[in-house]
Amino acid sequence: RRATVVAIDGPAGSGKSSVARAVARELGFRFLDTGAAYRALAWLVLERGGDTDDEPTVLAALERLGTLELTVEPAGQRVAIDGHDVTEAIRSERISAAVSGVARTLPARSAVNERFRAIIADAEPGIVAEGRDITTVVAPDADVRVLLTADEAVRIRRRFGDVGGDEFQVGARLAARDASDSKVIDFLTAADGVTVVDSTDLTFDETVDAIVRLVRDRV
Ligand code: C5P
Repeated sequence: RRATVVAIDGPAGSGKSSVARAVARELGFRFLDTGAAYRALAWLVLERGGDTDDEPTVLAALERLGTLELTVEPAGQRVAIDGHDVTEAIRSERISAAVSGVARTLPARSAVNERFRAIIADAEPGIVAEGRDITTVVAPDADVRVLLTADEAVRIRRRFGDVGGDEFQVGARLAARDASDSKVIDFLTAADGVTVVDSTDLTFDETVDAIVRLVRDRV
């Protein structure tokens, strides 16, 4: 019997990551935040003084993908690349601003997807994987597929609550990253068979419950 797979996609600030982690904890499943792999590659490019908009530089960093370590415990995901623990560093605004350049590099997408598929195949008893293309590209055959959305104003307010600073700037950055990511993958419309969970008017716990219920009904 293979692992139960729960795939969750959504835009920046939709709360995917914390929701997916809480769903995993509730179900006793593992947890995979796929954005962390793109962020770790962006970190490596910047660490080497490079620019993620320069494809050859991204491809050079990609050669170190073998050193990427992703632990997939529901308690939290540790991330390391090239021998550096980058768990906290990859959450910086500097990385958020640079990461779309990595995401646009198609060889980077296929290489990280290979890693994700290997992790997912091996994740007994189950795994919650979140990102932008999990329901469509990485695990289109997942047992449960969810598109987690929320109105942009609500996503900006939630993100602002996390990072602070200037709310207008937080909003502008979030919208810019979504616009840039949308050029490569469509994570704003639900593919066939994908359930939309709109968290605009839901609390965090209600959102987690809605997804846990989908899983319990389905498997
Ligand atoms: O989810 P998170 O905000 O950490 O993702 C960081 C970036 O990684 C996204 O802005 C996007 O560019 C990229 N990404 C992606 N495909 C995924 C997950 C993340 O392109 N499945």
